[in-house]
Amino acid sequence: MADKVTLCDERLQHIAFIMDGNGRWAKKRGMPREYGHKVGAKVFKEVIKYCGDIGIKYVTVYAFSTENWKRSEKEVSSIMKLLGEYIKEAEGSADGGELRVKFLGDLSKLPKELEREALRLEKMTENCPQTVNIALNYGGRAEIVEAVNRLISQGETSITEKTLSASLYTAGMPDPDLIVRTGGEFRLSNFLMWQSAYSELYFTNTLWPDMKSEDVDAAVSEFYRRTRRYGGVTG
Ligand code: IPE
Ligand code: IPE
Ligand code: MG
Repeated sequence: MADKVTLCDERLQHIAFIMDGNGRWAKKRGMPREYGHKVGAKVFKEVIKYCGDIGIKYVTVYAFSTENWKRSEKEVSSIMKLLGEYIKEAEGSADGGELRVKFLGDLSKLPKELEREALRLEKMTENCPQTVNIALNYGGRAEIVEAVNRLISQGETSITEKTLSASLYTAGMPDPDLIVRTGGEFRLSNFLMWQSAYSELYFTNTLWPDMKSEDVDAAVSEFYRRTRRYGGVTG
């Protein structure tokens, strides 16, 4: 049993989640994959809220990758619909709200209405204290290539780690301290390729729709047991 987490400190400012396992969760119940995404979207809201309660300043979730377009039209459109619903709901509570919502990814490939709503929500919440990044049509390699091309087009001839970091979707944010992947796979699937250089990785078999605050606690407790050396020596 994981320790109950009360409040995290500056060692854990940013948690990222690879929300995997929605399809399998639904299949196990004899339901269509879309149902898994629906329940997954509800769990996403609960997890974000819980992370805020335990003092996490930045939460990033992987909602849709550049590779997820390979799925059926029915599944893709159900995910887009759920995102649209989330945006509407978040807009409704944006006034005086706590949550700054930011999208990581190439929004120009999304349905136009969704792109507009997403940009509007970003603008409405830009001064809120707790950040949730939603990686949407996101690919880690594409992000880096796009950033490099932008720097070149601005006349940059020599790129540094600092200038590249500042050109990513996550500019100005700390790198994720902890990346949690649900669903039992041990890979990053093109998520935060640059930013994950020194992230602690945590994998769980729990399928995303089953994710509870206790599972977040288990990941956080494990994080606090780790020693981050960044190539140095301790002890
Ligand atoms: C993650 O769950 C959500 C997205 C990729 C959009 P999956 O849909 O990948 O669920 P599994 O891995 O097939 O169970
Ligand atoms: C990663 O899950 C992407 C998201 C959670 C949005 P996938 O289900 O797409 O990853 P793979 O295909 O198992 O690597
Ligand atoms: Mg999956």
